[in-house]
Amino acid sequence: MEIILAQESVADLKKWFTSYVQTFKYKDIELQRNIDLKKDHTRRVCKEILNLGEQLGLNDDALRLAEIIALLHDIGRFEQYARYKTFMDGKSENHAELGVKILEKHEVLKQFDEATKDVILRSIQYHNRASLPRGETETCLFFTKLLRDADKLDIWKVVTDYYHRKDEKRNGAIELDLPDTPGFSEEVYRDLINKKIVDIKHVKNLNDFKLLQIGWIFDINFKPTLRYIKERRYLEMIRDVLPKSKEISEIFDIIHRSFVN
Ligand SMILES: [Fe+2]
Repeated sequence: MEIILAQESVADLKKWFTSYVQTFKYKDIELQRNIDLKKDHTRRVCKEILNLGEQLGLNDDALRLAEIIALLHDIGRFEQYARYKTFMDGKSENHAELGVKILEKHEVLKQFDEATKDVILRSIQYHNRASLPRGETETCLFFTKLLRDADKLDIWKVVTDYYHRKDEKRNGAIELDLPDTPGFSEEVYRDLINKKIVDIKHVKNLNDFKLLQIGWIFDINFKPTLRYIKERRYLEMIRDVLPKSKEISEIFDIIHRSFVN
């Protein structure tokens, strides 16, 4: 698919994004902080996707498309939080599907041709799925992969900053309201030693959730992403806040063996 996108279309969409997000305003500091968290996350995912795209040699039009996809990928988060006060899809609704509905309702993509619109909406729709879609076009699959890598890079930043924060204050929105109980689930351990991403159904406590974040390494699509993960020491930073145990060491041995090059 040939991608042609004017520079102004990115600028216009950034303006739309800013004014849309401004409609979600809270006096409550906690609520506003979680809106800001997603706004800042979006800004950084845009940077990550451009970085990755440049390293993969994308041309300017493809980079613009990538940036638009990153800019809009979590648009459903704001309405989700307004309606349900949680970012947990299982307890509210799927934020990716909600995002697509919002973009359609506000006719945000009306300036694009059908094929371009389709790639944007589908990449967004697929970004939070457990695995990649099958039977998609090469272009759609590529941008879906790129978004998923860029998104994970920033979620790792958010959670590692959080786990190593100086104040002890907890944020249920980041921890998905999971209990911080000792130990971790057998099923989570089993997913990881089988080099599989962790099934969200197996996640029962905060340690399980940390392990799920470790397991994203098995769902990375591009070499530059892996390099960033190593350079930024994301997995080590999560390991630091997990219990010291034989099973956890085993998981890390498997990861190190899988990703040495
Ligand atoms: Fe995201």
